[in-house]
Amino acid sequence: MSEQFGKAFWEERYRGHTAVCSWRPNPQLVAEAGDLAPGTALDAGCGEGADAIWLASRGWRVTAVDLATTALRRAREHAETLSADVTSRIDWVQADLTSWTPTEEHFDLVSTHYVHAAESRDTLFRRLAAAVAPGGTLLIVGHHPSGPQHASSPEAYFTAEDVAASLDPDRWDIAVAEARTRSATGHDGHEITVRDAVLQARKRA
Ligand SMILES: C[S@@+](CC[C@H](N)C(=O)[O-])C[C@H]1O[C@@H](n2cnc3c(N)ncnc32)[C@H](O)[C@@H]1O
Repeated sequence: MSEQFGKAFWEERYRGHTAVCSWRPNPQLVAEAGDLAPGTALDAGCGEGADAIWLASRGWRVTAVDLATTALRRAREHAETLSADVTSRIDWVQADLTSWTPTEEHFDLVSTHYVHAAESRDTLFRRLAAAVAPGGTLLIVGHHPSGPQHASSPEAYFTAEDVAASLDPDRWDIAVAEARTRSATGHDGHEITVRDAVLQARKRA
């Protein structure tokens, strides 16, 4: 993906809004991780932290990584208004996912939502998939190309089927690879329609 989606882009985007994302967790995360037993989770591109906080409130020990310091500051500040128990289960990490490499086969859940990074999507997803522990779950959610074009670049769109095809079939069982349409609240507070590409896959133990 192009340099357009580097640190300056994301910092500017967060500074330009009081809150880019809501404090509610992504509905695809709730649907796909709601029944998983808590363990260690990586939220890659956590933004303002709603997903990481939701996971921690359910007992997950979360490593929440993002490039944008403004987003992480808001995430930390919001987490600190919650119980110490929840806060203590989240490590907020300011890092660039194009160079920060998570420990291989470490996390019971690796979750990433709408991360448009300044490198090839395949490379990023391969690194994130490698971080899933045997028996663990990979959840990738993004903008589906057949939906409304919310993101500023066509490179931000993909299908879950394409991501599924890139996973080694000897190592992965694909549980979900589909498109889902839902309503969401846009940055200006209006209701918008979103079409998500949703991949949920389990790494064989
Ligand atoms: C569209 S936001 C989504 C945030 C959150 N996952 C959500 O669903 O609300 C994309 C996030 O990815 C982060 N991001 C983009 N490129 C990144 C990179 N190379 N390393 C770490 N984070 C990155 C941005 O800072 C931003 O917070």
